[in-house]
Amino acid sequence: MYLEFYGLKEYPFNITPDPRFLYLAPHHKEAYDHLMYGINNRKGFIELTGEVGSGKTTLCRAVLSNLGKDVETALILNPCLSETQLLRAMLNDFGLEVRGRDRLAYIEKLNEFLLQKNREGTNVALVIDEAQDLSPQVMEQIRLLSNLETDQQKLIQIVLCGQPELKARLARPDLRQLRQRITVRYHIPPLSMEDTSMYIKHRLWVAGSDGSVVFDPGAVREVYRYSKGGPRLINAVCDNALLAGYVTQTRVIDVRCVRKAVEQLEGSK
Ligand SMILES: Nc1ncnc2c1ncn2[C@@H]1O[C@H](COP(=O)(O)OP(=O)(O)O)[C@@H](O)[C@H]1O
Ligand SMILES: [Mg+2]
Repeated sequence: MYLEFYGLKEYPFNITPDPRFLYLAPHHKEAYDHLMYGINNRKGFIELTGEVGSGKTTLCRAVLSNLGKDVETALILNPCLSETQLLRAMLNDFGLEVRGRDRLAYIEKLNEFLLQKNREGTNVALVIDEAQDLSPQVMEQIRLLSNLETDQQKLIQIVLCGQPELKARLARPDLRQLRQRITVRYHIPPLSMEDTSMYIKHRLWVAGSDGSVVFDPGAVREVYRYSKGGPRLINAVCDNALLAGYVTQTRVIDVRCVRKAVEQLEGSK
């Protein structure tokens, strides 16, 4: 709606986890590095937590697309699966043919695949998003999968990505064995005000801005105050603030535009 007015090629503040817009603020860079390190050094289990909208899915997607050719990957987005469904989803994502509904046959197939990849010198990584929703039975199945290892190394690296509840989940006594296997952990904190400012600039730039639309310092402060540094809320409020600026035909987004945006968002709750 406001694209032409601001000279943008696309909407800068969509809430899809599109890695093209990735801005590696210092903590996001740390999270990214932890995932890369854990996968490439075959650390087995890796835990990534953060509040809703903190950037977990975006970071996982970025990591998956930047891993080398020597890593086979699978991404599970829907954690509300049974053990058998999870195994089937993994096999599908690794591009393996799946027949029947026999869980043991799935496990055998997966093991064969992992050993084959190991012989070829290929690492394998599985990312499970929203892992706080996995049932304890499925968590246990995942732990069993990781039992397969050679003397030297783990055959599959598993990233459990989820909201802070994931930590509480893993604190259950019956998941102790899984918890103890997690060797790399990172919790994504909110962006700082300075990060928020850079983040906004970066997304505008990726969307094709030539710099003629700006959020002035008061606007950035207000965005930060409202969002508390959470990227998803930053996007929601900035999108509405651009709309408010468009309505009044200004390319300098100020605190009034942001306040209007906040009113819009709060009103629609
Ligand atoms: N580092 C980042 N760079 C650019 N955009 C980001 C970043 N982190 C999060 N976002 C944006 O914020 C929104 C929420 O991110 P998402 O990855 O879906 O969060 P989560 O999975 O933690 O709920 C998405 O629109 C995403 O594009
Ligand atoms: Mg997500």
